[in-house]
Amino acid sequence: MAPFLVIVVGFPTSTKPTLIASFKHWELKLGENKMNPIYQDLKDKHILITGGSNGIGAALTKTFAEQAAEVTIFDKDYERALQIAEECQEYYCKVNVYGIDLTDSEALTETLAKVKKDKPVVNVLINNAGYDPRCNLLEMSAQEWNDLFQLNVVHYFITCRELLPEMINAGGGSIIMTSSHLVWIAKPDMVAYNTTKAAIVGMVRTLAGAVGKHHIRVNSVAPGWIMTERQLEQWVTPEAKHKTVHELQSIPIELTPQELMGTYLFLASDTSRAITRQTIVVDAGYAQT
Ligand SMILES: NC(=O)c1ccc[n+]([C@@H]2O[C@H](COP(=O)([O-])OP(=O)(O)OC[C@H]3O[C@@H](n4cnc5c(N)ncnc54)[C@H](O)[C@@H]3O)[C@@H](O)[C@H]2O)c1
Repeated sequence: MAPFLVIVVGFPTSTKPTLIASFKHWELKLGENKMNPIYQDLKDKHILITGGSNGIGAALTKTFAEQAAEVTIFDKDYERALQIAEECQEYYCKVNVYGIDLTDSEALTETLAKVKKDKPVVNVLINNAGYDPRCNLLEMSAQEWNDLFQLNVVHYFITCRELLPEMINAGGGSIIMTSSHLVWIAKPDMVAYNTTKAAIVGMVRTLAGAVGKHHIRVNSVAPGWIMTERQLEQWVTPEAKHKTVHELQSIPIELTPQELMGTYLFLASDTSRAITRQTIVVDAGYAQT
């Protein structure tokens, strides 16, 4: 049995970090992962993931923990974040959990300052949290529109603004944002959501040009319809799923968060060091981009 140590530090308020560390022979995990390669350069890198508690974000947390990286999760679902961190204990990794509402820009800025105090450099920033309401534009209030932008766009901007100076000092880094294939499909009941996700494509293209000279790469992943718990609860019907998989996608596979992980890992690793300014659509060939 490999040496194993777990440290759990609880704090009275949820904006303080909870650190769960585990020490185990990382090498033992090599070869156990059937789907993704281990990228040696990601070992000990600091990865910050917004929305890392559920769905795609939870898969990202586990995937990067498996790479023996140090992962920091920002999520309002604090309990679930702790649970995911516990599940990562089997890897040689550290998972830091911050319970935070990402739409509160002031709290976000303060929490990022706390993270930097503890560990100044985030090597890979993954802006992932987002929400996808269906609504008729004619019935949408300005407040609802702004609230969606606050989550799907503004927190992406704030994290970049606060973390870029240290990334520049460190001599490089990778920023990966989450867009959607719906930018190209353009479903009529998702005008607001698609506008936020198109904004991310614009942010990626522009920011990549601004920070490339510092060896910082900025890319995004545009997932197709991923069968997360929330999608299954809120939107997926057997008919819609069947039509998507068998008629609309080129490849008839049911997409799970796991299908995205290889793309995120590749974009995080130096393996893709010449790739920036790109949006990679991972949707089994649905969107006509
Ligand atoms: N699932 C899909 O089919 C799909 C397709 C294309 C793009 N996306 C995008 O991928 C990203 C992840 O989607 P998902 O399906 O995994 O979502 P999800 O709802 O399963 O998970 C989102 C996570 O973000 C957290 N979160 C939401 N609002 C927050 C807030 N205000 N403050 C802090 N944390 C908050 C949630 O607690 C949750 O842990 C989103 O940006 C989404 O738009 C998803």
